Amino acid sequence: MIVGARAIRGATVLAAAVLLAACGNSNSGSSSGGGGGSSSELTGTGEITFATGKDTSGNMQKLVDKWNSDHADQKVRIVELPESADGQRQQMVQNAQVKSDAYTILNLDVVWTAEFAANKWVVELPQSEFPDLDSAFLKPAVDTAKYRDKLYAVPVYSDGGLLYYRKDLLDAAGVTEAPKTLNDMITDCAKVKATPQGANVGCYAGQFEKYEGLTVNFAEAVQSAGGSIVDESGKPTVNSAQAKAGLEALVNGFKTGAIPQKAITYKEEEGRRAFQAGELLFHRQWPYQWAKANATDGSSQVAGKFNVAPLPGATGTGSSTLGGHNFAISAFAKNKKTALDFIKYFTSEESEKSNLLATSQAPTRTALYEDQALIKEFPYLPTLKASILSAKPRPKAVKYGDVTAAIQENAYAALTGTKTPDQALSDLQKKLEELTSS
Ligand code: GLC
Repeated sequence: MIVGARAIRGATVLAAAVLLAACGNSNSGSSSGGGGGSSSELTGTGEITFATGKDTSGNMQKLVDKWNSDHADQKVRIVELPESADGQRQQMVQNAQVKSDAYTILNLDVVWTAEFAANKWVVELPQSEFPDLDSAFLKPAVDTAKYRDKLYAVPVYSDGGLLYYRKDLLDAAGVTEAPKTLNDMITDCAKVKATPQGANVGCYAGQFEKYEGLTVNFAEAVQSAGGSIVDESGKPTVNSAQAKAGLEALVNGFKTGAIPQKAITYKEEEGRRAFQAGELLFHRQWPYQWAKANATDGSSQVAGKFNVAPLPGATGTGSSTLGGHNFAISAFAKNKKTALDFIKYFTSEESEKSNLLATSQAPTRTALYEDQALIKEFPYLPTLKASILSAKPRPKAVKYGDVTAAIQENAYAALTGTKTPDQALSDLQKKLEELTSS
C-alpha cells in the first residue's frame, strides 16, 4: 500500500491505541544481555553490531574505533552489507524475517522506514531521547525517519542530487556557466565535443542500472519535466504527458549517444569511476563524489577541475529525489541501550562534522550548512542544502520493495527499448494502482 497523508491521518487513531496498549513497559534499568525477541524496551548494554552499506571512505570505521576506545564493554562491530541499496535491504529484511539478533543498528535508506516500522522490525524511538531533532536537523530528513507520526530512526546522512560538471572543459569551450536546462546541457556538450580536449568525453550519465538508483533517476527525470509518480495523497499519477517527456529525455539520451551506452550498467560507484577517469562532462551524483573526485593521491584525474550545480530541468532548474540514511534499532537485537547511545554519538554535531570533513556526505544538522569555514572548504554546501530542501521524497510505502521494483522494471524496459515510453508508463501506472489498492 502506498501511504498518503490522508491514510496516515486516518490511521493515527488506531496507531495511537496500539501504542497506548504497548506503553505499559518501563524503559528504566539496563541489565546486560536483555532484549532479544520483539521487546521494544531500550535496555541492555554490551557489544552490538552495526549493519550498513559499504564504508566507502573508511570514516565510519574511524568513528566506531573512537567509540570503542571509550566504551570497552560496549564495543560496536561494523557488518558491511552489499554495495547496492537493494542488496542491503534484502539482507536486512531476511534477517528481520527470521527474527535474528545479528544486526543491532540498521543503516536504513530513507525509503525503508515505512516497511520496517509497519512490520515492527525496528523499535519506536522516544523523541524525548533526541530533543533537538525538530530544531537542529533538516526537516525533510526528519520526516523520512517517521512513520505515522512516530519516530523510528534518526537521520544521519541526507542526500540530494547534484550536477557535477567539468569546469575546465566548459571554460575551454567558452561556456561560462553551468547549464540550467537539459537542452542547455546538450548544447554545451556539442560545444565541448568540438574542442580538442573534449572530443572524446561522454556528455552525461546518472545511475541507470536496474536498482534503487534507477528509481531515483527516473523520479528526477519525471519531476524535472513537471510530472510526478504519485500525488500528495499517494495516488499514482505517472501516466501523464509530463512524465512521458521526462522519460523520453532519458530514452533519447541513450538513443543519440548523449548518455554513453555503458551508463546502463552504472550504479553510483561505476559512474563515479568514469567521472574520475575524465570520461564524462556532466554527471548526476550525490555529494559523496566531491571528496573522492577531488582526491590528489592519483585516484582521480579531475581533482580541482570540476564544480557542481543544481540538476537541470525541462524549462529551468530540475528537481532532486530526496536521499539519505537513518539509523534504526532492530526489534530483535540485544543491548538496545548501547545502540541508542551509539546513535546519539554518531549523530552529534561533532561526529557529523568529522564525517563531512572526511567524506563530503550531506550532514543532517542544519548548522553545518551555515558554518562559513565549512562552506569555504565545501563550496557546494549551499547548492546541496537547496537541493535537499526542494527534493521530492519517493513514494512512502509499506510494500516499498514492490513499488520500486515496478518503477525499475518499467524505466529499464524503456531505456533499453523493450517497451515504448507510453507502454512503460501505462504498465507502471497500472501496477502502482494495484499496489495502492491492496
Ligand atoms: C544513496 C541515497 C539513497 C538512495 C541510493 C540509491 O545512497 O542516499 O537514498 O536510495 O543512493 O542508490
